[in-house]
Amino acid sequence: RDWETPLDSFDTLVVLSNRQPYRHTRDADGSLAVDRPTGGLTAALDPVCQRAGGTWIAWGDGDGDRQVVDENDRVDVPPTDPSYTLERVWIDDDLADTYYSGYSNRLLWPICHGAVDEAKIRPGDYDGYRRVNERFAERVVPHVSGESLIWVQDYHFALVPAMIRERVPPSTTIGQFWHVPWPKPETFSRVPQARALLDGLLGADVLSFHVRRFADRFLTCVEYFLDDASVDWDASVVSYDGSDTQVVAVPLGIDADEHARRSQNLDDGVYETLSAELSIPDGTLLGLGVDRLDYAKGIEERLEAIETLFERRPRWRESVTFVQTTTPSRTDIPAYAAYGKRVRRVVDRVNERFGTDSWQPIVYTESYLTRDQLTALYRNADCLLVTSLADGMNLVSKEFVAASVDETGVLCLSDQTGAHDALGDVANTIDPTDRESVWRTIDDALRMPVREQRVRMRTLRARTAERSLSWWMSTLFETFAAATPDRSISPQG
Ligand code: F6P
Repeated sequence: RDWETPLDSFDTLVVLSNRQPYRHTRDADGSLAVDRPTGGLTAALDPVCQRAGGTWIAWGDGDGDRQVVDENDRVDVPPTDPSYTLERVWIDDDLADTYYSGYSNRLLWPICHGAVDEAKIRPGDYDGYRRVNERFAERVVPHVSGESLIWVQDYHFALVPAMIRERVPPSTTIGQFWHVPWPKPETFSRVPQARALLDGLLGADVLSFHVRRFADRFLTCVEYFLDDASVDWDASVVSYDGSDTQVVAVPLGIDADEHARRSQNLDDGVYETLSAELSIPDGTLLGLGVDRLDYAKGIEERLEAIETLFERRPRWRESVTFVQTTTPSRTDIPAYAAYGKRVRRVVDRVNERFGTDSWQPIVYTESYLTRDQLTALYRNADCLLVTSLADGMNLVSKEFVAASVDETGVLCLSDQTGAHDALGDVANTIDPTDRESVWRTIDDALRMPVREQRVRMRTLRARTAERSLSWWMSTLFETFAAATPDRSISPQG
C-alpha cells in the first residue's frame, strides 16, 4: 500500500520521543561518530520520518550531541542522506533522574508491565516528569503551521497531548502511540496520578496501542477513573472535556523485505567469525535469546528453564547451545542493576553445572552486535526464545521470522507479548508464568521435524510481511487523517 497519500493530508509532521534515533559523539581527535541507540521504537520510526520529512524532537544525550547542533538545537539526519530534522531537548542530570529514571522507569514501566513489586515513586519524581512533559510540549509550538500532525510516543509523555492541545490551533491533529502494555485497572490504581495521566492522554485525537487487549484495558480505566468521561465501546471513542479521542489498536511491524534481503545476502563469514569470537561450538543446535536487560523480558526465568531442560533431558547436553545476547539498560535504577547480577549468576551456575571442556550450555554476551551479526544469529538459530512476562510488541520475534529465509527454525513466543496476538497460534506458545511450560516448549521446539517447522514458519513469515512497517504507517496515518478535527466551530457554537 502507498503511504504517501495519507501523509499528504498534513502540512507538517512533528514526532516526539524520549529516545533519539541518532546519537553523535566526538572522538578524541575531534572527528564525529554517530550511533543508533537500541530500541524498537526508534528503529521503527526512523524510516517513517525519512520518508515523511519533518521534525523529530527527542532528549539529547550530552556534550557530543551539543557540539553538532545549530543554535536552535537542530541537526539534519540521517547523517549520510539527511531527510528530516532532529531537534534535541537538553535535560540536566537531576531532572532526568526524576523524569526518566524516576517516574517513567521506576513507576510507569513496572506498572504497565504488571511488575507491581518493582513500582516505586520518590518525592519529586512526578514533578520532574510534569516539567519535562511541559518542556517538550512547548518545543512543539513553533513547528505548528496549517494542518499539522503532532505524533507523541510512549509512556514518557502521558501529559503532553493535553499540554499541546492548550497551545496549538484547533486544526492541529494530535496522535499518541503507547508502545508498552496498558495495565489492568487494579494495577493502574497504584499510580497516585492516575487521573492526571488519563486526562493528559485524552488531549490526543487518536490514541493507539499495539493490540486490542491494551486498548480495551485503557477504556476500562477511563470508565473506572474519570466520572466525566463517556466511552462508546462500539466506536472505541472516548468523549471527554468537549472533544473525542479515537482509541485504536495497530500493531507495529517491521520492514520484513529488508530483513529478508539482508539475511539472503549475508556472507557466511559473518557467522563464522562471530561464532569463533563468542565460542559457539560447531555442530550443536542453536537456541537464541535477544533482549534488552530488563526484568519484564523474563530472561532469568528463561535461563532457569534451560537449566531444568538440561536436568530433565540429559540428551541435550553437548548437543544444544543457547546464545543469550543482552543490552544493559537503565543501569542506574537499582532493580535493573540487581536483575543484571541475577541473570549473570544463573548463567554461571548453569555453565558450571553442565559445561564441559569443549562446550558451554549458555554463551552469554552483553557486547554490541551489528545488524549483520544479529541477522547471522537469527539465520543460524534453530529456535528463538521470547519469554517476556509482559511486552508491548516484541519486534525481535518478527525480525527472527523475517530473517529465517530458509523457512526453518522455531519461534517460542510468550503469550504475554503483543506479537503473540498477531502471530500466536502458529508459534510455539510459552506461558511464562508456568515454569514447566517454558522448558517443555523449548524441548518440543528442539525436536520439531523440519517439515512442521516449514509449515509454521511460512505462515509466520506471511503474517509478518503482511502486517509490515508500511502497513502500520498507512493504517495509522489514515486514522489520523480520518480523525482530523473540525474545530472551526467551538462546542459552544
Ligand atoms: O516502548 C518501549 C521502549 O521505549 C522502546 O523504545 C525500547 O524497546 C525501549 O523501551 C528502550 O528503552 P530506553 O529508551 O529506556 O533504553
